[in-house]
Amino acid sequence: MADTATNIEARAAAGDEPSALVAVTLHKRYLLGSQTVHALRGVSLTVRRGEFVAVMGASGSGKSTLLHLLGLLEAPDEGRVEIGGRDTSGLDDDALTELRRRSLGFLFQTFELIPNLSARENALLPADMTGDGEAGRARLTHLAEVLGIADRLDHRPDQLSGGQRQRVALARALINDPIVVLADEPTGNLDSRTGREVLALLSGGVRDLGWTVVMVTHDASAAMEADRIVFLRDGEVAGTLDTHETDVQAVMERALGG
Ligand SMILES: Nc1ncnc2c1ncn2[C@@H]1O[C@H](COP(=O)(O)OP(=O)(O)OP(=O)(O)O)[C@@H](O)[C@H]1O
Ligand SMILES: [Mg+2]
Repeated sequence: MADTATNIEARAAAGDEPSALVAVTLHKRYLLGSQTVHALRGVSLTVRRGEFVAVMGASGSGKSTLLHLLGLLEAPDEGRVEIGGRDTSGLDDDALTELRRRSLGFLFQTFELIPNLSARENALLPADMTGDGEAGRARLTHLAEVLGIADRLDHRPDQLSGGQRQRVALARALINDPIVVLADEPTGNLDSRTGREVLALLSGGVRDLGWTVVMVTHDASAAMEADRIVFLRDGEVAGTLDTHETDVQAVMERALGG
């Protein structure tokens, strides 16, 4: 059945809310010279609203590829991605861009802030692009408080610490109240203490403010902040751990292929 906005709303009213994100048997191949790299080999994943999912796996296991597909930045060769109950396969570039700006938030290891814009202007970019500048400004007041950057909004990125830059990037990711935030090693460029602070903001937002997060990480203790860890190996899901029923040692062993 095609998911129209109306039946999504009807299901939500009936208490049968669609998942934030559903990936069904995703395959992705890259052509590298004469060789084909099969980066994803049938990955399926469901993320509920309000859930925090970490993705771990060795270098080259397909984590970033998966995040690109979930973020509608690349199309799968096979399989499909649903965002908030809406199947995205077959959407044209304009529709994908619109859905990406409205419904997805991105957080990168390298922050990806625009150097000559203030923190405020950076954070508001997605809202300005969807014509929601006014709502964005109201949201930013609240987000800046939550993220502890209210007194830094007029600074440029080079006038901010790494942790502050990532908080601005998080404000930008959340400015349009996305269905899901996709984060690729968001603490990878931060010292461990600053990294823990950013993780605490993410997990606090999931717990208290209803955010939904998918985070790629190499760091077992970072992954323990999530509700669930999905392990990738050679482009396939190799298993899942419930973080409430495991410890950091077990996660480290599993991440190393144990
Ligand atoms: N654009 C591309 N062209 C060719 N091959 C690619 C491309 N992107 C990824 N790959 C290959 O696909 C596989 C998965 O890459 P991916 O970047 O998803 O790994 P990863 O798990 O994110 O690794 P890392 O932990 O090092 O970031 C690798 O073999 C990689 O070389
Ligand atoms: Mg990667």
